Amino acid sequence: MRFSALAILAAVPLAVDAYPQYAKRYASLNAEKRGKYPILRRAAAPYSDQYPYTGAKLDGQAGTGKGGVQVPAPGDTDHYYQDPPPGAFRGPCPGLNTLANHGFLSRDGITTYTEMVAGLQNVYNVDFATAVVLTLLGFVFDGDPVSQMLSIGGEAVDRTGQHGNFTGEYGGVSQHGTFELDVSLTRNDFYLNGDAYSLNGTLFGLMVETAKNTSTAENPLFDFNAMALYRLQQYQRARVENPWLYVPQLVLHNYGAATFLYEAFPSSAKNNTPDLETISSFFGAVQLEDGTWGHVGERPPPNWHNRVIPMNLADVTNGIDALYAAYPVDFGANVNGVWIPANQSYTPSTPSRKRQASGSGGDTNLICGAFQEIFITAQNSPQPYAMLEFILEKATPVMAPYNCSIPGLTSSS
Ligand code: HEM
Ligand SMILES: *[C@@H]1O[C@H](CO)[C@@H](O)[C@H](O)[C@H]1NC(C)=O
Ligand SMILES: *[C@@H]1O[C@H](CO)[C@@H](O)[C@H](O)[C@H]1NC(C)=O
Ligand SMILES: *[C@@H]1O[C@H](CO)[C@@H](O)[C@H](O)[C@H]1NC(C)=O
Ligand SMILES: *[C@@H]1O[C@H](CO)[C@@H](O)[C@H](O)[C@H]1NC(C)=O
Ligand SMILES: *[C@@H]1O[C@H](CO)[C@@H](O)[C@H](O)[C@H]1NC(C)=O
Repeated sequence: MRFSALAILAAVPLAVDAYPQYAKRYASLNAEKRGKYPILRRAAAPYSDQYPYTGAKLDGQAGTGKGGVQVPAPGDTDHYYQDPPPGAFRGPCPGLNTLANHGFLSRDGITTYTEMVAGLQNVYNVDFATAVVLTLLGFVFDGDPVSQMLSIGGEAVDRTGQHGNFTGEYGGVSQHGTFELDVSLTRNDFYLNGDAYSLNGTLFGLMVETAKNTSTAENPLFDFNAMALYRLQQYQRARVENPWLYVPQLVLHNYGAATFLYEAFPSSAKNNTPDLETISSFFGAVQLEDGTWGHVGERPPPNWHNRVIPMNLADVTNGIDALYAAYPVDFGANVNGVWIPANQSYTPSTPSRKRQASGSGGDTNLICGAFQEIFITAQNSPQPYAMLEFILEKATPVMAPYNCSIPGLTSSS
């Protein structure tokens, strides 16, 4: 079965608007920069048969899903921690920063679709469909579908594009208002100082205090209870402190990120416990003498082993539903300090925190919603046809089992 990007665009006239915008974006590219910087990226370290991790290779395909693997593997020096090289890009995602600091993504932080799909599987043991969906979400918001490159930090079009091939002004994962939104766990809202990507040690400390309250002061756990309450606290803080807070329903993404603390970061060698040693290491948070938290490069803690059973889309979507259902909040915006409710309601569908059978299962509405979001967002990217072709090629195989209906997506045989 083949889907056609043309059919989608014909069905959704909105996308036509992207053209004048594209022309403008192209014109705004600093001409001096163009061609001045060749692509000097350092590619991710390749995988060897000696250190296969979860079996994914740099070919965009599925690995074995067999986890419980130590990362980095002892002896695999190519994947040992290194500080980011000078000029490297890092951003708001501790998961991706960790991958780049270990060469699973290019250490300069300019990565590719294939590096990311392999890295997510091999390091965090997320299943293939989940690796594809998370990677595509990154691309539709912030990446280049032609070079298939993405900055995990700020804008880097001079490296993700090349002379004669600049296809749009893509923001990179740090770009605020696309994938990066207000009400994060440890990152400032953009309004404060324009830096919505660096670790804020004060916020990390508050997250620790919350975890102490929901578990014990001696052994704070960043589990479901801690993350549900801390997300509420961050929301309440932002409602008061950020006069330009913007909380669209899309902020549900950030609930997904919160599930990663107890779904992706815990070590299977430590009974999957989301403890402070583990979480602070992945966030690169180090406690200073005065008790405050500073920042070093993100990395797994010593002797870290990934999940035994792959994390699937249902784990993420059920997690979003359950975290939100614990403390439902209004979507909306502060406009110059005045709260305007968006009057959007979100009803989590009978959240089950029980693990579903692998593959499909879980909140199909939410999973199909994620695919829909990918397709709709693609239509607003600088090169909507290129982005849709890219998405169709990558998403179609993993989307098939869910029978999602995507507006405008018609199939032909
Ligand atoms: C299993 C893999 C991943 C893990 C474990 C992970 C982990 C996290 C965590 C814990 C946060 C919250 C940081 C905070 O709020 O302080 C976060 C945020 C973020 N991640 Fe990831 N992530 C993963 C995959 C990805 C991918 C593939 C992308 C995009 C290509 C991505 C993009 C982002 C962005 C844009 C944010 C900022 C959201 C916001 O706070 O506004 N992540 N991630
Ligand atoms: C532009 O990129 C495409 C795909 O990567 C490649 O085939 C083509 O040769 C590139 N064109 C130029 C002018 O570099
Ligand atoms: C960290 O976050 C707190 C709480 O929002 C804020 O008051 C403080 O200014 C932030 N620190 C930095 C360095 O941005
Ligand atoms: C932790 O609990 C104490 C006592 O109930 C309370 O005063 C404090 O504000 C709580 N801190 C957080 C971050 O939830
Ligand atoms: C939401 O509803 C309230 C009350 O009816 C209204 O004042 C407000 O303007 C609505 N917000 C939006 C974004 O439509
Ligand atoms: C999708 O459709 C097929 C064939 O009708 C069915 O066997 C399968 O259970 C459906 N999957 C979901 C997630 O609804």
